Amino acid sequence: MQQDVEYDEFCDPARPRTVFCDDILVAAKRIAGYVRYTPCTKANMSKELKMDLYLKQECTQHTGSFKERGVVNTLLSLSDEQKKIGVIAASTGNHAQAVTYHSTQLGIPSIVVMPITAPLTKLNRCQKFGAKTILNGNSIAEAKRHACILRQDNKMMYLNGYDHPNVIEGQGTVGLEILEQVPDVDAILVPCGGGSLLAGICVAVKHLKPDTQIYGIESNKTSSMIEALKKNERVYVNLETSIADGLSVNMVGVNSFHNVKDKVDKMVVVKEDWVARAVMHVVEKERFIIEGAAATGIAAIMAGLFPDLEGKKVVCLLSGGNIDTTTLARCLERGMALEGRLVKFKVTVTDRPGGMAEFCRMMGKIGVTIKDCIPERAWVKGDIFSCELKVIAETKGWDHTNQMIEHIKRHYTDYFFPEFGERRENRRAKGSCLARNPRCMEK
Ligand SMILES: Cc1ncc(COP(=O)(O)O)c(C=O)c1O
Repeated sequence: MQQDVEYDEFCDPARPRTVFCDDILVAAKRIAGYVRYTPCTKANMSKELKMDLYLKQECTQHTGSFKERGVVNTLLSLSDEQKKIGVIAASTGNHAQAVTYHSTQLGIPSIVVMPITAPLTKLNRCQKFGAKTILNGNSIAEAKRHACILRQDNKMMYLNGYDHPNVIEGQGTVGLEILEQVPDVDAILVPCGGGSLLAGICVAVKHLKPDTQIYGIESNKTSSMIEALKKNERVYVNLETSIADGLSVNMVGVNSFHNVKDKVDKMVVVKEDWVARAVMHVVEKERFIIEGAAATGIAAIMAGLFPDLEGKKVVCLLSGGNIDTTTLARCLERGMALEGRLVKFKVTVTDRPGGMAEFCRMMGKIGVTIKDCIPERAWVKGDIFSCELKVIAETKGWDHTNQMIEHIKRHYTDYFFPEFGERRENRRAKGSCLARNPRCMEK
């Protein structure tokens, strides 16, 4: 019988591999000196989130994510012969960067196949690390197939970034470090995509300190581990684009699922808006740039999904910092809008000389910054000498926004605050979610 070109002996659904804590301890020795022992420090947000929160800063690795651990462990475990032939991978994300950087450092040949749609910045970064890159296929699945076809001829090993047993062992070293850095940790929050990080941490921590709670976190657009656990088997999940793109894996890994399923205490799904807000809070309060996937743990705490962890010692994994500037800007703007710090409204002012100036002066007096103001004259009802202003304003938060609304209501008769259901002829706000309390927006 002809074997499927994508068959991977290391990730065989018929023979899932159990990873042991001893393997992870060996991996830690193997990768020491190649991969950073990252800091795990107390978060400034601890008080506000009502827990002793620690942040494990994997975003400070050379290529900005924990993925290096699994890759280096796998590369160093190759036979001498395979080290000469090299490895092939399909990825556009953190795995690709880890493979290209470390294979070059170790003098092991590597090829990374990316779909033709891969962003140029990601392609350039991998090429800069000195590895060979190939563009093929319209999706990551097609790129993977191409990589598997190539490996038939060149004998390179396909390096699965979320399922190879050596990868899981490497990721498990994060768990060992956490136990050294926060020995009395009560709970660890782990972002989950294909599942290798969660699997490695579950194996290490449940063996060495079994009373530690381990929670896997997925975004509501990347919930393939939850679906697999519900059905007690790996299932293919259709995914939408996500702010936590590092977690977008249609089907969790064979070995990852096998090592997670009986060990993880709970999986939690957090909505994407909370992830954007978490990215903003971490940038503002902790001064770390993190990507969406890495913000899911803090997002889940902010969303109130862990009331049991109040007063406890909790470690959140900041698993990666590779967010592009456009996405970061979007997260900051979304976050500000969701927290009442960026407000959109309409107000009708007199179009006689000084009308708009008076409005701007009034906003300035109460400390509101006008970010955008578009005057509309043609489609305005009523007084011909009036002008409707479409405004985007920056405030200090909900209280300040409410103060601004009250001010506008006192001075003008026509206004509309869509977020608040506030209109001139409808002053009483309606609906269950007025968004004054930021929590009610996403629960
Ligand atoms: C930043 C970040 N966090 C978490 C994950 C999830 O890791 P895993 O696929 O091992 O579950 C990834 C995966 O690429 C990632 O890039």
